[in-house]
Amino acid sequence: MNENSQLTLNMYQKNINAALKSLMSDKPYLREDVCEAMEYSLMAGGKRLRPILMMEFCRMCGGNAAEVLDISLSIELIHTFSLIHDDLPCMDDDDYRRGKPSCHKKFGEAIALLAGDALNTLAFEVISNAAIDEKISAQAAVMLTSVLSKAVGVNGMIGGQVIDLSAEGKQISLEQLDLLQQNKTGALIEAACVMGVILAGRYELISAAAEYANALGRAFQIVDDILDVTGSFEELGKPIGSDTQQQKSTYVTALGIDGAQAEADRLTQSALTVLKQFDDCEFLTDLTVDLLHRRS
Ligand code: IPE
Ligand code: IPE
Ligand code: MG
Ligand code: MG
Ligand code: MG
Repeated sequence: MNENSQLTLNMYQKNINAALKSLMSDKPYLREDVCEAMEYSLMAGGKRLRPILMMEFCRMCGGNAAEVLDISLSIELIHTFSLIHDDLPCMDDDDYRRGKPSCHKKFGEAIALLAGDALNTLAFEVISNAAIDEKISAQAAVMLTSVLSKAVGVNGMIGGQVIDLSAEGKQISLEQLDLLQQNKTGALIEAACVMGVILAGRYELISAAAEYANALGRAFQIVDDILDVTGSFEELGKPIGSDTQQQKSTYVTALGIDGAQAEADRLTQSALTVLKQFDDCEFLTDLTVDLLHRRS
């Protein structure tokens, strides 16, 4: 990644972290436990890819990234909720996340479950508050809510997690694996990009943003599957070998490491081709390539 892009990435991450911290500053008495758990998982780190995609698509489409920072938190709240629940013993049963004990290891399963639920609803509160505060129109808030709620629900992340669980210990076809991935991971990444376009009011670019996101999302999950085999706990901050232990159906089990890597390379090239339709796409081009080679 060139120096300019690295500075942009650092700036985005710093702004997102500060805005999340400020969002979590209010801890109502008697509900402190669940608020602590929400803040713990949110502030443990993370690449902040999804809010960055939202702000960057807004900016590339002529909007102002700084003005949509608060709204971009909505997708990180949802993503963190998905990670808290993903780690629960009834799901992937993972003890570490973002370099720290998982939410349920630190706060217990009941509070972790509720912290995830509360992050889910807070995401939609953030969007409606932006309309109430007249930062966005009511129509934009409805569109954002529609996109985000579909991406979270049974035809999105939650549906993907259901397919992921049902595919444990089985050999599934590549088509089924693509559907699993598209729902589990792709849906939120697509929502992030599409919401950025909506925030800039450039509705004619929604399908191009979705096309980019589909390619990026699949490449992203393939790399996640590869890192589960080739990464280290120190780099990733989450357990290695979790997929093998849970007998998951992944791109590595379907294609082997080399085959999976070749597919991630191909998809990254497709994503970059679509990205050329957007003005001023240098940072996102760099970030897209960087994600292919990431070690965390
Ligand atoms: C991990 O997502 C889960 C997947 C959807 C593959 P990230 O790799 O974006 O996790 P953080 O946010 O950086 O921790
Ligand atoms: C999780 O996929 C996707 C979510 C919806 C959270 P994984 O189970 O592969 O994510 P990691 O590897 O635990 O981060
Ligand atoms: Mg999982
Ligand atoms: Mg997992
Ligand atoms: Mg994984």
